[in-house]
Amino acid sequence: MAEIVIVRDKAEAGALVADEIAGLIRADPEAVLGLATGSTPLPVYEALRPRLQGVDVSRVRGFALDEYVGIDPAHPESYRSVITREVVEPLGLDPSRIRTPDGSPEGIEHHGDEYEAAIVEAGGIDLQILGIGTDGHIGFNEPGSSFASITRVKTLTEQTRRDNARFFDSIEDVPMHCITQGLGTILRARHLVLLAFGEGKAAAVAGAVEGPVTASLPGSAIQLHPHATVVVDEAAASHLTRAGYYRYAYANKPDWQGL
Ligand code: PGA
Repeated sequence: MAEIVIVRDKAEAGALVADEIAGLIRADPEAVLGLATGSTPLPVYEALRPRLQGVDVSRVRGFALDEYVGIDPAHPESYRSVITREVVEPLGLDPSRIRTPDGSPEGIEHHGDEYEAAIVEAGGIDLQILGIGTDGHIGFNEPGSSFASITRVKTLTEQTRRDNARFFDSIEDVPMHCITQGLGTILRARHLVLLAFGEGKAAAVAGAVEGPVTASLPGSAIQLHPHATVVVDEAAASHLTRAGYYRYAYANKPDWQGL
């Protein structure tokens, strides 16, 4: 079972996960991070900044989960731009060691395999940060995605395009296709940390954590992972039937276990 940590707010979640990541980087300056975009991980990146002061981050590597296909990498909403703006620059990471999937249409059929090879060559992802979509997607693995899938091109659902239209002028400007790490890719990361905030995510969180393992709710793939941590605020936890047990287990967690 994934470990469920119910926190007061985003700031507490950010501090908790940032402590874990900073500890990972201090222990291994060549740590490989799996980076997520969207609004959910922002408190983690904000909390990481002070924790990495004075820490050598020059050899940290990172792999973003996904990218839009056909978007100009210089567009402010390309995930390359988002990762640069929200993670690479504030944390002082080396941009040449941080990759996003290549969403350029030329040779797109090979870009997934190239990305998989780069992750393997880096030694695999140590800690993968994840958000979850209101439809249960992780990365851009929409409902129905194979649990064995690797990085590849997918068609975004209407719901995801609507959810992401807030970052663009209109829904028509949201790209139709994306290139995303697969569920199989995500499951190979050594530690998964899924965050969710707000009532709008409560059904997806409950399905992912307590529902059946099903491709119809891609977030439920985390139930197959030996080390998955789910950090949620009260609102996102509000549909969980075993919340009392999760609080009890976390309150009594042995210190040596870490996150
Ligand atoms: P959000 O997106 O963090 O902006 O809510 C999460 C997701 O779609 O995976």
